[in-house]
Amino acid sequence: MSDIDLQQLLVDARENNKKENITGQLLYKDQHFIQLLEGEEEIVERMFKKICKDPRHIKVKRISNMDVALRSHNNWSMGFKNLDKTNDQILEGFDPSKLSDGNLVYRLLRHFTQ
Ligand SMILES: Cc1cc2nc3c(=O)[nH]c(=O)nc-3n(C[C@H](O)[C@H](O)[C@H](O)COP(=O)(O)O)c2cc1C
Repeated sequence: MSDIDLQQLLVDARENNKKENITGQLLYKDQHFIQLLEGEEEIVERMFKKICKDPRHIKVKRISNMDVALRSHNNWSMGFKNLDKTNDQILEGFDPSKLSDGNLVYRLLRHFTQ
């Protein structure tokens, strides 16, 4: 996805998420997205279904789902980091197409929140 397309996706998502009181984070690497969505369960589920149907991507996989007492991204309607533009050590050997480990996803999200 081009930088302009990514920026547009983010502008739209952030505007919409504010209305829905959804917070979270989006990472992008090698044409793969990794996303965290936080909010009321019903609203997040509805959003997830909508995102699954979005033709801008394919093969959406839910890696983890949990109840939390507090949000980890309270102030971010949708944080974003393009990992293609960093050679951070944490990404050494990291292949987003093989991602299935929820702990690794949380580690990455936490790392790129700072
Ligand atoms: C990887 C990815 C992540 C997305 N994340 C969000 C999001 O967090 N919030 C959002 O409103 N839309 C997000 N979208 C866009 C939705 O799929 C959808 O286009 C948008 O909610 C507008 O839907 P509507 O036209 O039915 O209102 C995302 C799309 C993609 C491809």
